This record gives sequence, C-alpha cells and structure tokens, in this order.
Amino acid sequence: MLEVRQLNAWYGKAQILYDVSFDVRPGECVALMGRNGAGKSTTMKALMGVLAKRSGQVTFRAADVAHDISNLAPYRINRLGLGWVPEDRRVFTDLTVLENLAVARQPPRKGAPTWSHAQLFELFPNLGAMPDRPGGRMSGGEQQMLTIARTLMGNPYLILLDEPSEGVAPVIVEQMAQMILTLKRQGLSILLSEQNLHFARLVSDRAVVLEKGQVQFDDSMAALTRDEAIQRNYLSV
Ligand SMILES: Nc1ncnc2c1ncn2[C@@H]1O[C@H](COP(=O)(O)OP(=O)(O)O)[C@@H](O)[C@H]1O
Ligand SMILES: [Mg+2]
Repeated sequence: MLEVRQLNAWYGKAQILYDVSFDVRPGECVALMGRNGAGKSTTMKALMGVLAKRSGQVTFRAADVAHDISNLAPYRINRLGLGWVPEDRRVFTDLTVLENLAVARQPPRKGAPTWSHAQLFELFPNLGAMPDRPGGRMSGGEQQMLTIARTLMGNPYLILLDEPSEGVAPVIVEQMAQMILTLKRQGLSILLSEQNLHFARLVSDRAVVLEKGQVQFDDSMAALTRDEAIQRNYLSV
C-alpha cells in the first residue's frame, strides 16, 4: 500500500530523517514508534509532502495503481486517498460536528471503505450524541475523534494517525483502540504514530521503531514485545 525508501527530511539546515525505509501492506496497522523527538511526526509530514526539503522514494498504491508521491503537492497526495490526522488535532471551533464533517467530504473511491454520517456516528457514539455541538466546546478526546472522523469523510485507502492516544482520558483511549480495530476490519490501512507500547500492541500488526530519525527496528508486534533491549533503548517503557 505504502512503500517508503530512503526518506530524508530537513527543517531548514537541520537533517531530521536519515534513510527511513518501511512498508505498510494492505489492511495492515503499522505502529511508528519511538520517544519524543524521534521523528515520528516528521515522517508523516514528509510522506504528505508538507516539508520544504525531503528526498527519497515514496510509492502509494491506490486501487491497484502505483503512484510515485515523492514529489507531489500535499493536496494531490490527499486526493489519491491518503488521509492524515496531525498531532495538533485542530477542529473548526465555531463549526458544529456535522459542519466539521461536511467540509471534508470527498467522492467515494473504488476499493476504499466509504463513510456516511450514520457509520461515523456508530464508530464514534460520543460524536453522534452531539451533532450540533461547536468544535470549540468539546473535550480534547472528543476533538481527537472529530479530526479522525473528518479524515474518514475523505474515504481514504490509508490514514496516518499521529499519536491519537496522547493526552486523552483512559476511557477514550480504550474507545480509540476499538475504533482502530473497526477501521481495520473495514479494510482501511493505517500508519499509527505511538509511544505507548500497550496501546500499539492492542491494534498494530507490525512496529517500526525510530530513534534520532533512523529506523532501529522493523518487525512484528510480537517480536517487539519479546525484545526488551529495543524497548529499553528506544521506547519509554
Ligand atoms: N518545526 C520544526 N523546526 C525545527 N525542528 C523541528 C520542528 N519540528 C520538529 N523538529 C525537531 O525534529 C525532531 C523530530 O521531531 P518530531 O518528528 O516532532 O518527533 P516525534 O513526533 O517523534 O516526537 C526533533 O528533534 C524536533 O526537535
Ligand atoms: Mg510527534
């Protein structure tokens, strides 16, 4: 679904990513892990093309067509069916839940799950209970759910989820895990940025661990669970 090869990225003169390579296969949830500052968010920004300077090869396969997205503009990458939920989880604060969803609607895509309001409210019952609430009057966890629901309105093949469990209440984290498992059952592919090994284990098939912008580990979640050295050296456990 997504093939990342030798991805390098810079902020100004500072190089942040060094030859990052990994794959996300169809229907898979891959956890992009590593401590604060390891380069998880930068990887997602580089994939979406929002960094001024990057190099490397990124291939995105949508409906059996391989697209070289290495040098595409962000809106074109998004229009191919790659959705991104950034870490700042911004919603339109003066628009209601339904209005926030309406502005993000895109046409259905062949081979990708499509999402109606009813399906999204089934996935996020909290949102279904407050369709007319302005975004600015929701809790952090509810806003996080709304940003995910809004991205799904684009009917993507693959979504990049940047630390959805960070700073939200434990009960919402639990719902978030169930939600991700439901998305997988619908056939969506997911790249999840995550520091929390417990949460990542609940929902992910494989893990890619970053440290100082380099891949240190790329294997199954079961292998990461067994590998105490990698956990100790590169995760906050
Ligand atoms: N806008 C920016 N300008 C300059 N450096 C940045 C910027 N954003 C992040 N960085 C640096 O890039 C590195 C990776 O950050 P980031 O990708 O946000 O890590 P993570 O998401 O894994 O916590 C860090 O050293 C961070 O300080
Ligand atoms: Mg981050």
